[in-house]
Amino acid sequence: MRSPKHFFQPLALGAPEPAREIPFKPSRMIHFFAPNSEKMRSKVPSIVPKVDVLLGNLEDAVAADQKEAARAGFIEVAASTDFGDTQLWTRVNSLDSPWFLDDVMQIVEKVGEKLDVIMVPKVEGAWDIHYVDRLLAQLEARHGLKKPILVHAILETALGVANVEEIAGASPRMQGLSLGPADLAASRRMKTTRVGGGHPGYLVRQDPNPDDPEAPRATAQQDLWHYTLARMVDACVANGILPYYGPFGDIRDTVACEDQFRNAFLLGCVGAWSLHPVQIGIAKKVFSPPVDEVKWAMRVIEAMGDGTGAVMLDGKMQDDATVKQCRVVVELAQMLAEKDADLKEAYGL
Ligand code: GLV
Ligand code: MG
Repeated sequence: MRSPKHFFQPLALGAPEPAREIPFKPSRMIHFFAPNSEKMRSKVPSIVPKVDVLLGNLEDAVAADQKEAARAGFIEVAASTDFGDTQLWTRVNSLDSPWFLDDVMQIVEKVGEKLDVIMVPKVEGAWDIHYVDRLLAQLEARHGLKKPILVHAILETALGVANVEEIAGASPRMQGLSLGPADLAASRRMKTTRVGGGHPGYLVRQDPNPDDPEAPRATAQQDLWHYTLARMVDACVANGILPYYGPFGDIRDTVACEDQFRNAFLLGCVGAWSLHPVQIGIAKKVFSPPVDEVKWAMRVIEAMGDGTGAVMLDGKMQDDATVKQCRVVVELAQMLAEKDADLKEAYGL
């Protein structure tokens, strides 16, 4: 670990000062697009106003013979598009791939000023972040960038999960973490072939009825990702960075997608990936706090005055802790309302 004194020094002469705080901007969905596809590139200007984060994907799902076209397509889109207040991210290829170095070198050189965050897949430990950190500092210095590019890591190997706290705190560039359930399942030898979501075989069953042992027993499906997601949220918050749910691969199952996203929202995540336009609306709905919760939270804050002591509201006890819970909801609502006029009206802000 670098000492606190050195932690915020640039890692290359002439590189910008590292950020002291990670900006928390609307982040409900990280919308993936395939920059090698001409059709996808042509849709970007119409998608930008609909999403909080637009991400050009260079890694998995881009065939090996399309990697260079994807990189070039991303650079073209980044250079020619006005993103307004929508964040621009890219997911580069993994550190052990033949493409990572050119992905980072070319993107930082050509469109580094426009890029908010680089998503690095398959991060296994702090050492991976340290390498990316120094490389980015060198490239920022070489190309005269004024603002540091932030790093987002995907948690998608067993070793990465074992080291999640160190990864989250490895550099001031660390912006957040996403769960990568597909690669993580493979790395752990889990026996699900789905991309995120539940599995009907992962369940608990009611005890048998002693008087009727053969009677059917109720089961409840459990969440395969609960442990990892909860660890990831704690690691992120402990290090001042942002947690995101990752992909939900069954595009047609919008109901289960909404459930999975909502579990992540309730557990502390700020957003999820959208892999298809239909998931943009789901993420927007789920990661914007519900109107009745926001109104209730405003009532609690109002009733609690200076935020200390205790009051009863509709038969429910409120105190210093519940007012903090309510502030989380209202502050998120206020931040999102600034971007979204419909939400502003619905929240009455
Ligand atoms: C995402 O990259 C995943 O592996 O789930
Ligand atoms: Mg993956």
